[in-house]
Amino acid sequence: MVYTNISLTMKNEIKAAITGIDAYLPEYILTNQELSTLVDTSDEWIMQRVGIKERRILKGEGLATSDMGAEAAKKLLKKTGTSPDDIDLVLVATITPDMAFPSTACLIAEKSGIKNFWGFDVSAACSGFLFTLQTATSFIESGQHKKILLVAADKMSAITDYTNRNTCVLFGDAAVAMLIEPSTENVGVMDSLLQADGSGKDALFLRAGGSLKPASHATVDAGEHYIYQDGKAVFKVAVTKMADASVAMMERNNLSPDDLSWFIPHQANLRIIDAVGKRMGIGSDKVMINIQKYGNTTAATIPLCLWELERTLKKGDNLILSTFGGGFTWGSTFLKWAYNS
Ligand code: UT7
Repeated sequence: MVYTNISLTMKNEIKAAITGIDAYLPEYILTNQELSTLVDTSDEWIMQRVGIKERRILKGEGLATSDMGAEAAKKLLKKTGTSPDDIDLVLVATITPDMAFPSTACLIAEKSGIKNFWGFDVSAACSGFLFTLQTATSFIESGQHKKILLVAADKMSAITDYTNRNTCVLFGDAAVAMLIEPSTENVGVMDSLLQADGSGKDALFLRAGGSLKPASHATVDAGEHYIYQDGKAVFKVAVTKMADASVAMMERNNLSPDDLSWFIPHQANLRIIDAVGKRMGIGSDKVMINIQKYGNTTAATIPLCLWELERTLKKGDNLILSTFGGGFTWGSTFLKWAYNS
């Protein structure tokens, strides 16, 4: 009995903290102006309906998600003075792996000089980062790992049809890398509420290229290797689920809007972000928005927000992160920022 109490106390004292973050953004900027030369769209429509001004696109033969992820990882290792030999686990959130196997975790590690590790990819679409952060948290809290490299990376341009105006204006490419380490200072991942519902599978998916419909001339001709989205259906569920999960997260941790430094939502649509913020009763000055610069980078949106905020964040700042994506998958995480820059 005594031992049980001690081990519970110890477990609760160890939190998984983000101790460093860096990003890689491709140089090429795809503007609304350029998109309007490809499909029947306009800057006005995209800004009013979605809120995106431009997005980054990875150009160049032979460049993939792992190249962006490795660039972000190398920058992070240098910035934090971390030796690749000290990384014991590599977790990658992506739905655009370089290939079905080997995992992009193996490829990023190989390109970053990380050798003494194991790792794997997590597939949870736009919820990939929060699902992977929770996976990392479990490995840290259990004491199994001490220095985890978490990479959130997607080359969405690889699965976007630039002749379809419904989807081609939405997505961008990016990679963010972060270090996750144990902390006993009551900072890091404090609480998490993640959920999934496979009945949403027909609203947002990639029709072909998996074991259900392997690639063939017919699948290529039918454009089935590109994202399909029923935008209106996804929009409605996204607002409700993100708001409900975030309100529940705040309530069960006794947080009021005044206690928060930032609410950081997945960046899919400015109207979704605004609606969720309003339902949570959070002033727009505390809602992080950078969708105008990068579009929807899938697993990388929340990490890109954290990366941009890093210089201004203070140790102990309360952050609520919230996401919604294909699956459906969704959730909310309460994070206490772990360091001053
Ligand atoms: O990140 C994962 C989760 N994803 C999301 O959260 C995305 C959720 N959905 C959305 O953000 C929005 O539904 C979209 C941005 C995808 C679409 O916005 P919408 O206001 O729902 O537009 P809609 O699809 O209902 O289309 C309205 C009209 C249609 O024309 P008609 O049929 O009314 O004549 C579309 O053809 O807007 C048209 N349209 C466009 N017009 C100009 C659709 N895309 C475009 C475009 N430019 N790019």
